[in-house]
Amino acid sequence: MKVAVFSTKNYDRTYFDRYNTTHQFTYYDNKLDARSASLVAGSEAVCAFVNDTLDRAVLEILAGHGVRIVAMRSAGFNNVDLDTAQRLGIAVVRVPAYSPHAVAEHAVALILTLNRKTHKAYNRVREANFSLERLEGFDLYQKTVGVVGTGKIGQVFIQIIRGFGCKILAFDPYPNEQLISEGIEYVSKEVLLDQSDIISLHCPLTPETHHFINEEALKLIKPGMMLINTSRGGLIDTQAVVHALKSKQLGYLGIDVYEQEADFFFRDLSDSIIDDDLLMRLLTFPNVLITSHQGFFTDEALTQIAQTTIANLTAFEEGTYIDANTLIRV
Ligand code: NAI
Repeated sequence: MKVAVFSTKNYDRTYFDRYNTTHQFTYYDNKLDARSASLVAGSEAVCAFVNDTLDRAVLEILAGHGVRIVAMRSAGFNNVDLDTAQRLGIAVVRVPAYSPHAVAEHAVALILTLNRKTHKAYNRVREANFSLERLEGFDLYQKTVGVVGTGKIGQVFIQIIRGFGCKILAFDPYPNEQLISEGIEYVSKEVLLDQSDIISLHCPLTPETHHFINEEALKLIKPGMMLINTSRGGLIDTQAVVHALKSKQLGYLGIDVYEQEADFFFRDLSDSIIDDDLLMRLLTFPNVLITSHQGFFTDEALTQIAQTTIANLTAFEEGTYIDANTLIRV
């Protein structure tokens, strides 16, 4: 099958070419949007990533060029207008689980780095500054960690963070019986906000979870709380978070995702003027750590992404079984 692959980086090419023996991939560096959508001419499939735009306008262009399937090489699919895809007869598949460990471990990395300031210590020591001033952290042992979303990633995160001797509070509209039997306590959003020393977000971005952390929520948190978001930027009202950081109500912020990240993340813009005052304001806080959506970025995850995407395309082409978990809409 001819597949137009958007937002391609060197590592995408490397992993797809390593495992592909069947399809004809044409790689485009461009993001998929209304301007680049015509590049699909001649392809029956599109492979897209988290910051590609698959709204009504784009999907209509794809359908006009005969695209029959969109293969997301991500777990999240909040950037796809599923109703329009269905109306146009475009199937949408994804990679539902490509190493929940990769993202959960990255969330823990953000916590440890923010807390123990190893990123600052590294730079200091390289300059022969061996002072410990302002590097003070806190024990994770016996701290309360609030986990929002106890799906695949949330569960791995809980497993790891329990190893530090933390108390876990969970919030999820669909509590997991296995976790309950292991002693994990599900609480209301309000209780989680009120009692957690650290909150880590692991739920999908939906209309219900949009700005889950907003001005109201930030009024309820423990002063000095640490907020970690490795899920989707839209879970956080960034403006409200900046206010909470300025007032010191929020003590730390670690994010791998940012609401307006599509314009910046995954690219080297070190020679550019960044036209996003909110992002630049965030970067000025000493207690904010931002990574550019690298939670998924491990060898294991990239392997799984390539293999599952290729298998999805092959199954669709052969009209055979597509794993129900990978299929979003036909
Ligand atoms: P999952 O589908 O296994 O789990 C999501 C959980 O969130 C479910 O238990 C669901 O019941 C829960 N949930 C749904 N609505 C909720 C609400 N209103 N409040 C609280 N919980 C709610 O998904 P998985 O694999 O654990 O991934 C979670 C998210 O992580 C994805 O949706 C994606 O946005 C993000 N992600 C980020 C990556 C990165 O590189 N930073 C890579 C992969 C995923």
